[in-house]
Amino acid sequence: MARNKITVVGAGNVGATTAQRVADAELGDVVMIDIVEGIPQGKGLDMLEACPVSGSDVHVVGTNDYKDTAGSDIVVITAGLPRKEGMSRDDLLKKNYEIVKSVTEQAVAQSPDSILIVVSNPLDAMVQTAFRASGFPKERVMGMAGVLDSARMRAFISMELNVSVDNIHAFVLGGHGDDMVPLPRYSTVAGIPLPDLMSQERIDAIVQRTRKGGGEIVGYLKTGSAYYAPSASIVEMVDAILKDKKKILPTAAFLEGEYGINGLYMGVPAKLGEKGIEEVVEISLTNDERAALQKSAASVQELVEKIGV
Ligand code: LAC
Repeated sequence: MARNKITVVGAGNVGATTAQRVADAELGDVVMIDIVEGIPQGKGLDMLEACPVSGSDVHVVGTNDYKDTAGSDIVVITAGLPRKEGMSRDDLLKKNYEIVKSVTEQAVAQSPDSILIVVSNPLDAMVQTAFRASGFPKERVMGMAGVLDSARMRAFISMELNVSVDNIHAFVLGGHGDDMVPLPRYSTVAGIPLPDLMSQERIDAIVQRTRKGGGEIVGYLKTGSAYYAPSASIVEMVDAILKDKKKILPTAAFLEGEYGINGLYMGVPAKLGEKGIEEVVEISLTNDERAALQKSAASVQELVEKIGV
């Protein structure tokens, strides 16, 4: 059986930590590509030299040449400018649109059967950009945001209740923006819904902190945004696909009527397996939850219209 091949576009913090985690988990051979000369080569060789210590029999290479990415099973797109302090995800829109469009075209030319996982911000609009630029079916183009937003919510619940993160399940839907939709009713601790365990006031505080989770990290780092939790979240999706796990994860998926949303990428529960997004799972929402999702969709729609994708 041939080894899987995973390309990571972008050798910045998100790209490099993703490549490292993929190599450590022995999920397949890794190609890290960046426009900057030397950085992907240096980081890639450094990671390759770590493999004998971690006991990982995979090959890692950094490059500036898309030919080296040929035949990838998965392409993770992290390329783009990161968010700086005081900058909203939307400020990045136009600059990252050009970057994501260009890298998608180059990547899919080499790997026409791949599955794309987009991570660049503003997330939902960038997945839609990659979807249009690739010409791929919707099943093979998805965005990573919900796993990260849910991971943050799980971390905050764990801190609040002093309980193992393993016991905690959280669901955050909607766009990856300040009006994302954390769903306390569907968030559980050992199967017990959050509203049975915490006051509404504490739940509201956790919901707000989750919504601002990315900005909280930017506030500390000043010159960049989060990458440890984002890369861990990407790898959970890569793992689910390559191992055909049929794992339901919050994923930015192209909706055509699901949740009353049409022609737009949004974060929803989706079953991930070898074909990519194998199913969008529809859960019942209260009127308030549905309204929050519609509001989030309207924000994404606005961005998508600005770039005409
Ligand atoms: C975050 C930014 C990168 O959520 O969107 O950390």
